[in-house]
Amino acid sequence: MKTVIKGKVRLAIIGAGGISRVHADGVLAHADTIACTALCDIDGERLQARSAQFGGVPALYRDWRRMLAQGGDAFDAVAICLPHHLHAPAILDVAAAGKHILCEKPMCLSLSEADRIAAAVKRTGITYMSAHNQLFMPAVQEAKRMIEAGELGRIRWLRSQDCFQASVAGFRGTWRSKRKYQGGGELIDTGYHPTYRLLHLAGAPVVGVRGSMGRYLQEIEGEDSASVQVRFANGAIGEILTSWAYGNPYGTHQIHVVGDKAEVFGSGNELNVLPAGYSQPAVKRFSDVPTFTRQMGCFADCLRSGTRPPHSFEEGRAVLAVILAAAEDARGWQKLVAKKGLPSF
Ligand SMILES: NC(=O)c1ccc[n+]([C@@H]2O[C@H](COP(=O)([O-])OP(=O)(O)OC[C@H]3O[C@@H](n4cnc5c(N)ncnc54)[C@H](O)[C@@H]3O)[C@@H](O)[C@H]2O)c1
Repeated sequence: MKTVIKGKVRLAIIGAGGISRVHADGVLAHADTIACTALCDIDGERLQARSAQFGGVPALYRDWRRMLAQGGDAFDAVAICLPHHLHAPAILDVAAAGKHILCEKPMCLSLSEADRIAAAVKRTGITYMSAHNQLFMPAVQEAKRMIEAGELGRIRWLRSQDCFQASVAGFRGTWRSKRKYQGGGELIDTGYHPTYRLLHLAGAPVVGVRGSMGRYLQEIEGEDSASVQVRFANGAIGEILTSWAYGNPYGTHQIHVVGDKAEVFGSGNELNVLPAGYSQPAVKRFSDVPTFTRQMGCFADCLRSGTRPPHSFEEGRAVLAVILAAAEDARGWQKLVAKKGLPSF
């Protein structure tokens, strides 16, 4: 039986950098159900800037362990917005303190960390929500609804992608440029989104993964582009394409699902529906959804009602398993091309 929070959820945020701004927007948009009562960052300027966004947060810390030890009475839950290598240590500390968790992607960097997190969440009975914000995209939600309602028939093929040309200076020398902090390259970062979307839409266990990677533009240790093929237990074949070196290839979509009755494809607020045998799709348009705001509202609602978040540590582990398997497979390709004297990275 989950603990249900009566009244407003009191939230601490660890990591006051880039993404914490939209987590804060989400808290402010749901002021009736959640409030930020503590903030932590090693960088004093970022701490002050994020505190100012809230009009002043009562408790500011430079060390999350101190925050948990001394300030724990002031909050029920923690949003973790840290560089990737710090996710597992922070999750384990926060869980040990009995606080609920909303953690940015990826959950952690290895399956052994994922197993320790799973054990800690089960032992402590806290609620763990994976911050998979793109589950709240209208195109993804409508595609999932249609798949579950059987409107596409048997799913045969799926594709999920996220490609853009990112600024080289934006990553140079940052934690994202080092494998030991990032946990890999682009796939474990931006590529995490198309991966959880693919698994969510397929709705079946993964039985095999193939991966191929390249680095074309970014000055980072890992790949800046990845292509992944996923075989699902229901027979469907899935593809992921993701890049920081080039934009979405012309004519492609964030998601595309082909079933034997119909196919759907689209991005963001738009989903096209093409029944089998037709040549013109019907377009469904939805109003804009600020996905991070929706995510924060959902987290607060889960804690106040005792319900399971849409994605918890099980889904976080499944996504990571695909990414790690793709990276492992890609290493085989890299060895092969290096042996032939062809360009690798
Ligand atoms: N969902 C999305 O679309 C999305 C987009 C961007 C980032 N993210 C994720 O958000 C997380 C953070 O990314 P970001 O872009 O905000 O990074 P960032 O570098 O802008 O912010 C990280 C913050 O953590 C702080 N920090 C580092 N070590 C710390 C420590 N020991 N204790 C306390 N604070 C510490 C840094 O000072 C910095 O302010 C990552 O997991 C990233 O993948 C998600």
